[in-house]
Amino acid sequence: MKIPDMLLTLTMILALVLYNVDAVNSNLFREYIGAEFKTVKFSDVPINRTTNFHFILSFAIDYTTSSTPSPTNGKFNVFWDTDNLSPAEVSSIKKSHPNVKVALSLGGDTVGAKFAYFKPSSVDSWVSNAVSSLTSIIKQYHLDGIDIDYEHFKADPSTFAACIGRLIMTLKKNKVISFASIAPFDDDQVQQHYMVLWRRYAHLIDYVNFQFYAYDQQTNVSQFLSYFKTQMSNYKGGRILVSLTSGGSGGLSPENGFFTACKMLKARKQLHGIFIWSADDSKSQGFKYEKQSQALLA
Ligand SMILES: *[C@@H]1O[C@H](CO)[C@@H](O)[C@H](O)[C@H]1NC(C)=O
Ligand SMILES: *[C@@H]1O[C@H](CO)[C@@H](O)[C@H](O)[C@H]1NC(C)=O
Repeated sequence: MKIPDMLLTLTMILALVLYNVDAVNSNLFREYIGAEFKTVKFSDVPINRTTNFHFILSFAIDYTTSSTPSPTNGKFNVFWDTDNLSPAEVSSIKKSHPNVKVALSLGGDTVGAKFAYFKPSSVDSWVSNAVSSLTSIIKQYHLDGIDIDYEHFKADPSTFAACIGRLIMTLKKNKVISFASIAPFDDDQVQQHYMVLWRRYAHLIDYVNFQFYAYDQQTNVSQFLSYFKTQMSNYKGGRILVSLTSGGSGGLSPENGFFTACKMLKARKQLHGIFIWSADDSKSQGFKYEKQSQALLA
């Protein structure tokens, strides 16, 4: 590094420390992939080299893989489309696109057509099982990070926070992952769990993939901006990403102004990134929103 570059970097770091980290746009684009077995591959998805691109494999779940899945207390199994999203395919997309990282998401809405519950027997045993099972999956698949997407709970918020906080802390300390995100949405029980996690462990959580598409499908731009503001105060200091769904409807749609709202946030330096649920659904639509999102972030 040359001296002027070093000074510039130091100045930027100082600026981030002195001023609110909120007030920075980012070129981060993230996309969930693999939950719906629609044979989508990483290489199907348009990747603009100007973005920082994360694929998020959906899902790893601590349930058995039998025809009637049952909870395993933190022993995770892979539930995504491994025929099309294999370890070799992860290596290959990362090699051909240096701006790509790949994460896995924990939990999700359902497993075997029933709710996937967060159901630990105890904090210690859950964390120990989760660290060892996830470490081996992450190494096998050459992954870089995790996303937390439990949506149903058979444990109180404090137990959830302790388990997830300690899991992220250990995986980061062991250098198994370099980033972690959480994926809450506007639901009382969900928010109670994730906000306790945030209060205790915000320093370990790099991104908040807030599921804005879980709001009403009639959402308009001004409502969306007010929801964003609410979540900025719930997850204070967090890098909150905006989001849309390409599967059915929900939240602020592109037709109703999603990209207009993104531009407004960008003008306020609050656009920390965009994510889409999901590549599986976007495939039949030619990935038009992926292209539009990345062009806006570039
Ligand atoms: C957005 O929707 C709300 C609630 O329906 C409504 O009160 C408001 O006028 C709408 N705003 C615009 C700009 O359409
Ligand atoms: C990537 O984004 C830039 C900036 O918007 C755009 O000019 C370029 O065409 C995009 N490339 C691809 C391959 O979409």
